[in-house]
Amino acid sequence: MDIIKMEDISKLYKSGQIQVEALKNISFNIKEKEFVSIMGPSGSGKSTLLNLIGCLDHSTGGNYELAGNQVNKLSDSKMSEVRNLFIGFVFQSFHLLPRMSALKNVEIPLVYRGMNNKKRKELAENALEQVGLKDRMTHLPAQLSGGQQQRVAIARAIVGNPSIILADEPTGALDSKAGELIMELFIELNEKSSMTIVQVTHEEFIAEYGSRIIRLADGQIVSDNIVEERNV
Ligand SMILES: Nc1ncnc2c1ncn2[C@@H]1O[C@H](COP(=O)(O)OP(=O)(O)OP(=O)(O)O)[C@@H](O)[C@H]1O
Ligand SMILES: [Mg+2]
Repeated sequence: MDIIKMEDISKLYKSGQIQVEALKNISFNIKEKEFVSIMGPSGSGKSTLLNLIGCLDHSTGGNYELAGNQVNKLSDSKMSEVRNLFIGFVFQSFHLLPRMSALKNVEIPLVYRGMNNKKRKELAENALEQVGLKDRMTHLPAQLSGGQQQRVAIARAIVGNPSIILADEPTGALDSKAGELIMELFIELNEKSSMTIVQVTHEEFIAEYGSRIIRLADGQIVSDNIVEERNV
């Protein structure tokens, strides 16, 4: 089943007199349990596309259907609800709160769901265990390595059991060994937990952990191919 359906999607940014057509009539579908890598030069529209998929922003044209929801027809608050239900985000720079422990950081998405303390702690502990950080729960972000911080961020992304993980250059701030560990974790979440994964990356090697690579240039899709020999 197609969990993501993008039809003729465009995104026009306007600031003052200047207009940027960041996405130009893009169409593609992503099936449940696919692991897709998005590549392309700087400024080609990768982050813009990921933000649209993740319901962080509305497109300026076209139709976007996420798990049967017509996203372009939703109000901002309804769009946030859909986002919280279906999407977990991972960013290049982790975006962890510096004064909170790993455990508290992972609990954050559950706070928004109005879950009680005990249940929150239990789910956050499970998520941290899943990313191999059971023994680092009380550490602050600054007391963790970059790779460990990214794994905390992944635990936070999966704690609400989303259908889709969206990652914008998840290994961009990490050395190659730590990056490979993150990819192994993504493979596990994809294969064992059946999560759909869409990641943006500049590195071919990282892209080839995915099963499919979509390449953008200047706001358009220039290729969309199955990866023949994956790094799995
Ligand atoms: N909020 C914004 N307002 C105006 N223009 C924007 C905005 N965000 C992005 N753009 C423009 O849209 C185009 C696509 O930007 P985007 O961030 O999607 O590129 P990208 O492929 O993610 O690049 P990078 O690899 O450098 O992260 C760029 O030309 C950028 O300048
Ligand atoms: Mg970007």
